[in-house]
Amino acid sequence: MSHASGLSTEQLIARGRDLAPAPAVEALRALTARRVKREPMAYILGEREFWGLPFKVSPAVLVPRPDSETVIEAALAMMPDRMSPWRLLDLGVGSGCLLLTLLREFPQATGVGLDASPDALEVARANAQALGVADRVTLVSSDWRLSGWTARVAGPFDLIISNPPYIEAATIDRLMPEVSRFEPRLALDGGPDGFEAYRAIASAVPHLLTSGGRLLVEIGEGQVPGIAKIFAAAHLQVMPPWKDLAGIDRVLAAQLEVGRKQV
Ligand SMILES: C[S@@+](CC[C@H](N)C(=O)[O-])C[C@H]1O[C@@H](n2cnc3c(N)ncnc32)[C@H](O)[C@@H]1O
Repeated sequence: MSHASGLSTEQLIARGRDLAPAPAVEALRALTARRVKREPMAYILGEREFWGLPFKVSPAVLVPRPDSETVIEAALAMMPDRMSPWRLLDLGVGSGCLLLTLLREFPQATGVGLDASPDALEVARANAQALGVADRVTLVSSDWRLSGWTARVAGPFDLIISNPPYIEAATIDRLMPEVSRFEPRLALDGGPDGFEAYRAIASAVPHLLTSGGRLLVEIGEGQVPGIAKIFAAAHLQVMPPWKDLAGIDRVLAAQLEVGRKQV
């Protein structure tokens, strides 16, 4: 109703007994018709809050999830020095919710956000501008399935974050309609076993991390053993997982094995 009428929640409460003007009623009907078809609220409103910040969203990007705030919590705990000029890389930047939030938390940091979807990068660009961090971010259109993509991002990085697609391809159509019908397949589809993106990331990360640098990835429920195995095979040392608010293992951190650290 607030979106349809252009009034704040407080104004709506104050005018609770007034009749809604006809244009607001019409607008609300149109918005409701979209929601009835199970379109996510974030796409209908064009915005979703993440870590207390407003992010523009479009159907080209995954709707930012509260679970993904666990990535931010882990990054802040692992890198307590907020004033260092950290270099950050976000693989699969989407709306930019992870990278841009971290750039706000680390005011001297710079970041590179990579995505295979040019439309998603447009959304990230708009968010970077709206959040006042556009001068510290570089957005790169590239695909980690193609060879040579690491040359497009100038490493090394102190922190690499990623919330890659991690759903088993065959199960996507059984998810709630808000996800399966409306969110971009490229943001969801993790291949036959859900681990394809982690394999690509694990093989590239050792060439992109600084000595002492960290990798933080969001993971799906029950994926810790599979991803830990992929990371170990790539000589990445895995740390205990971080849990989300529901108590589910949600983020895995890793660093280069001792002896494999880059100089
Ligand atoms: C799960 S979404 C995460 C988006 C955002 N980081 C977030 O946490 O909300 C995954 C993102 O990875 C991108 N992506 C998927 N496959 C990719 C690939 N092969 N190369 C580059 N980006 C890819 C998608 O376009 C999508 O924006």
